[in-house]
Amino acid sequence: MGLGLAALGRPGYINIGHSRDLSGRYAPATMEEHTHEVLDAAFLAGIRYVDTARSYGRGEEFLGSWLHDRDISKADISIGSKWGYTYTANWQVKAEHHEVKDHSLPVFQQQWKETQANLGDYLGVYHIHSATLESGVLDRQDVLKQLAIHRNNGLYIGLSLSGTGQADTLKKALDVHIDGFPLFSSVQATWNILEPSLGPLLAEAHNAGMGVIIKEALANGRLTSRNVNKEFADKRAMLEEEATILETSQEALALAAVLAQPWVDVVLSGATTQDQLSDNLRAFDVPFAQADQDKLALLSETPAAYWGKRSELLWN
Ligand SMILES: NC(=O)c1ccc[n+]([C@@H]2O[C@H](COP(=O)([O-])OP(=O)(O)OC[C@H]3O[C@@H](n4cnc5c(N)ncnc54)[C@H](OP(=O)(O)O)[C@@H]3O)[C@@H](O)[C@H]2O)c1
Repeated sequence: MGLGLAALGRPGYINIGHSRDLSGRYAPATMEEHTHEVLDAAFLAGIRYVDTARSYGRGEEFLGSWLHDRDISKADISIGSKWGYTYTANWQVKAEHHEVKDHSLPVFQQQWKETQANLGDYLGVYHIHSATLESGVLDRQDVLKQLAIHRNNGLYIGLSLSGTGQADTLKKALDVHIDGFPLFSSVQATWNILEPSLGPLLAEAHNAGMGVIIKEALANGRLTSRNVNKEFADKRAMLEEEATILETSQEALALAAVLAQPWVDVVLSGATTQDQLSDNLRAFDVPFAQADQDKLALLSETPAAYWGKRSELLWN
């Protein structure tokens, strides 16, 4: 299990109970201290992969200060970040634009410098943030060649995916070779019990030697007890029932469903609090069997329905 900093690095995010978790404690120093506490708890529990991005507010900065303050050895941790979105919310919960996407070479060059200033040699994997066919990044030879230079210097290059086009983008990425070698060695994608459609292709990527990192395992909180939407009530009741049978929480159950996939290398916990993190870690103790997987498969939505609901989540 890894820890993702999307909800920890900035005052606003789309996870359902984000504002309740942070409850107005938005001063940068307070948020930094809180992020350090969650990172301490994660490290103590054995988590050794941390995911951040240029667009997660001060996520990279908070992670960098934690790594230096705690004098974490580079051999003891793997760090991934992403470039391609610029944070534009100005430390506000509500903003007209929270982040702006641009996968061009000048943005890469600018964000590379910023990531280096925050994370330096700790950076192990640099992902293109939410690559899509529409963003055109997989056709931009100038960007791909620049990424290959860093790959040749020992950095792992990855891409993260989002939306109904996850599969088409990953198929294309698997074919990108520069100087005769695959460019991408890591993919970060959404797979959860509501949106499992990418599973077969992620298995292919894993078998081809890519690291597979799963994000949004709890569907941005839609699979948690925080989701009291009436339309979700039946699915929630089924999750709760199954969790009770397996003597766990519905959140740990949903994470266990991800951990049970043989092609998963890392599942990200998106915990905003230490309590959520402790609960997420219970996923390792869930005696998850094929029968549970078959039952939970009944909860899946069509990708179009899933991504439609995700796009309705409000920044809070
Ligand atoms: N395109 C991309 O590359 C991309 C996109 C999204 C995420 N990511 C990465 O993936 C990481 C994880 O994504 P995510 O945050 O969307 O993950 P998630 O697992 O789908 O959602 C995490 C959220 O679920 C809620 N939660 C977790 N445990 C809970 C518990 N025990 N009880 C109640 N609520 C609980 C919390 O939200 P609330 O309490 O706030 O409701 C938490 O912020 C991110 O941090 C980021 O690093 C990458």
